[in-house]
Amino acid sequence: MSKHRGEFGSRFGFILAAAGSAIGLGNIWRFPYVAGDSGGGAFLILYLGMVFTIGFSVMVGELAIGRAARRNPVGAFATLKGGAWTYVGYMGVLAGFVILSYYSVIGGWTLAYTWATLGPLLDSSDTGKLGAYFSDFISDPTQTIAYHALFMVITIAIVMGGIEKGIERAAKFLMPVLFVMLVALCIRALTLPGAWAGVEFFVIPDWSRVNADTVNAALSQAFFSLSLGMGALLTYGSYLSRRERLPGVAMWVTSLDTSIALLAGFLILPAVFAFGYDPAAGPGLTFVTLPAVFSKMPGGGLFGPVFFALLSLAALTSAVSLLETVVAYAIDEKSAARKPATLAMGLVIFFIGVPSALSMGPWADIKLFGKNFLDLMDYLASNLLLPFGGIAIAIFVGWAVSQKMLDEVFGGRQTLLAKAWLWMLRTVAPAAIIWILISGL
Ligand code: PFF
Repeated sequence: MSKHRGEFGSRFGFILAAAGSAIGLGNIWRFPYVAGDSGGGAFLILYLGMVFTIGFSVMVGELAIGRAARRNPVGAFATLKGGAWTYVGYMGVLAGFVILSYYSVIGGWTLAYTWATLGPLLDSSDTGKLGAYFSDFISDPTQTIAYHALFMVITIAIVMGGIEKGIERAAKFLMPVLFVMLVALCIRALTLPGAWAGVEFFVIPDWSRVNADTVNAALSQAFFSLSLGMGALLTYGSYLSRRERLPGVAMWVTSLDTSIALLAGFLILPAVFAFGYDPAAGPGLTFVTLPAVFSKMPGGGLFGPVFFALLSLAALTSAVSLLETVVAYAIDEKSAARKPATLAMGLVIFFIGVPSALSMGPWADIKLFGKNFLDLMDYLASNLLLPFGGIAIAIFVGWAVSQKMLDEVFGGRQTLLAKAWLWMLRTVAPAAIIWILISGL
């Protein structure tokens, strides 16, 4: 074990930290609106299928690369094989910059809503009013930039604290609370009059709505939500003890992440139908329907701000993993010290995020390929960089260094699981991802 790099203190701590990376805005903000936009039930089935086949296998592969190399993404590909593979690591670090830049903007929204829900916002469940409040907020550059800055400052502060003290401690105590609150909210949403239509929309597949875009959306959501394809879990794996069995750890992370996404779906979509909102309303969905649910709850005035505070914290544990990936690169490869590296990288990411913060307000009319800056960054990262990273990881583990990886994950045992895993990474995962990417274009 390398003292200099630090290591997770326990298996439980690691699972919670990795789940902390996976569980975030992707589950509670992105999943329900993408599902709503992609037709509900059929999307759900595609999503679940991808998470537990491609997603799970790539996750085990990513953790194995990190743990075998004990390095950041760039250093890991360089030491295990080198050559052109090193660029896969660079692509991951690039994705880290891109994702965190807009992730922090949305994280800022959750901080702002923690504050806003303390005020009169929750007095009405009128989605017209709540929608107007939301659009006023996201179009105000001073507020969106200030909250984006605040979110980055907190992220930087946690990453500066180092691996065990900062990340692990925060994750350990926050995730369970969020889970309990989600269950309570779900119960409230499901008992609203008219909520059942949302449940039907979410679980009954309408296959006529499935096209290349839906399949692509399910794949991108799977990678984004599981934090796969850019080396965040690779980096966390590099801090994991050799004693832990990776498939078990990955199954825990995958299942926890999926449960939270499902809970969010059973919360947001029924609420959307109960309040007569549009499931395809897009990124604002959560920020309009959640306050409506709170306004209909006894004690909602307290529940609301506490929930948004926890959502901000879930977003922070994901943001921390994004920044950690970039910082680990600077520490390992450029011999930087943790504190200045974190500060410098954090500042750069803040500036890249400013156009995203403006993209729903003053810069709303600036569009490329029909998308504003934030949507474009999200598309670039989730629909291209992460799936490409996924293909590269699958081929790397499946073909380039397969024996070493089999040893790392299964201790060289030729179990059925080992064979299935290798087969997934060698053929199914790359072929499926390539096919989905091509048909998406
Ligand atoms: N998985 C996080 C979420 O669902 O909010 C987002 C994320 C974190 C994506 C880390 C990618 C990543 F490397």
